[in-house]
Amino acid sequence: MSTALIIYGSSTGNTESVAETIEEYLSGHDYEVTVKNVADVTIKALEDPYDLYLLGCSTWGEEEIELQEDFEYFYEDMNGSLNLADKKMAVFGCGDSSYLYFCGAVDVIEERAENLGVQILCKSLKIDGDPEDEEINEWTQEVINAAEKK
Ligand SMILES: Cc1cc2nc3c(=O)[nH]c(=O)nc-3n(C[C@H](O)[C@H](O)[C@H](O)COP(=O)(O)O)c2cc1C
Repeated sequence: MSTALIIYGSSTGNTESVAETIEEYLSGHDYEVTVKNVADVTIKALEDPYDLYLLGCSTWGEEEIELQEDFEYFYEDMNGSLNLADKKMAVFGCGDSSYLYFCGAVDVIEERAENLGVQILCKSLKIDGDPEDEEINEWTQEVINAAEKK
């Protein structure tokens, strides 16, 4: 059995529900999954040993990218003092494509993680509007496949 850690930030519950769908899918595919609201963890959680890390964050702001407010602090702490070399990660989040930076938070988190040596397993999941299980499950399967290959 493999282990996965999902950390999400969500203001109106959309990214939280995506995190739960991912959890369910992984649990049904031989993963032992821990899910945490970003408001309840510190950056040190990323140093705990898991086979897979999934970070989820919604995007706010209008003219510029704003991360979901609880995730801001976590993101600020994603800096050079962390050793995340070779950890396997994928990033997801909810947004709305009518905004200038659709799911911009996902992009900046992914970029920062890569700078810290993380292996990004596959293209991020950007949900436009209401989350649908089918899209989420397909993506989660892609993550599993990529994690097994690398
Ligand atoms: C004031 C405001 C600003 C937003 N800005 C963006 C944005 O810049 N990019 C984007 O993709 N979505 C944006 N959204 C959409 C939210 O990210 C979307 O509603 C999302 O589902 C919220 O997820 P959460 O419930 O997990 O926080 C914005 C929504 C509001 C109300």
